[in-house]
Amino acid sequence: MKTLNIALAKGRLAEDSMELFKQCGMDMSFVKAKSRKLIFANSDNTITVILVKPSDVPTYVERGVADIGVVGKDTLIESNTDLYEMLDLGFGKCRLCVASPKKAVANPITCVNLRVATKYPNTAKAYYQAKGINIDIIKLNGSVELGPLVGLSDVIVDIVESGKTLVENGLEITDEICSISARLVVNKVSLKTKGEIIRPIIADIRQYQGGKADI
Ligand code: PRP
Repeated sequence: MKTLNIALAKGRLAEDSMELFKQCGMDMSFVKAKSRKLIFANSDNTITVILVKPSDVPTYVERGVADIGVVGKDTLIESNTDLYEMLDLGFGKCRLCVASPKKAVANPITCVNLRVATKYPNTAKAYYQAKGINIDIIKLNGSVELGPLVGLSDVIVDIVESGKTLVENGLEITDEICSISARLVVNKVSLKTKGEIIRPIIADIRQYQGGKADI
């Protein structure tokens, strides 16, 4: 009997993912997402679920520790990993944006690079490179909105969901880089070796979503 190993991003995405799997007929009741346990197996050992940091999901799937995973498109773009992105799951929707202080004035010293604070250095670099703009990347791990407020950066590249964090910190969107949502990703070897398990799951999700989620 083969085991399907699933990597989920701890938090809201894991909850939405498990609800989706449940809707598609998979019993996920063995996963206690609110406990401190990080790995769960069902009674007949046909499914294991690991709960990992969102930014680590692509790594676990690329390395084959997990056969499938659910991860935000933002994390996926940034990770630049070699795996199959099979489905747009339609939840975890937000936008990856450039934002700056409302009262920002153009920097008169044009030889100074634009300072960009972000959790997404690769994505931000690619975005500005395509525009031919030289930047200094300031990699932060959270509360990125603070960057321009304390003079650490000129702008931020970050995800915007409700927009509340921007508003409460006097920032505004100056450009939208792309739309984000949760994606089902699959290890390339697993799709061959465990295709008889993975393909029906993909088909069930597609059917559940009315066939609208194909990439
Ligand atoms: C994310 C993101 C923004 C905020 C956007 O941060 O980096 O800061 O959510 O959400 P909003 O548009 O609904 O206000 P997260 O909550 O993941 O925390 P972090 O800043 O510590 O990464």
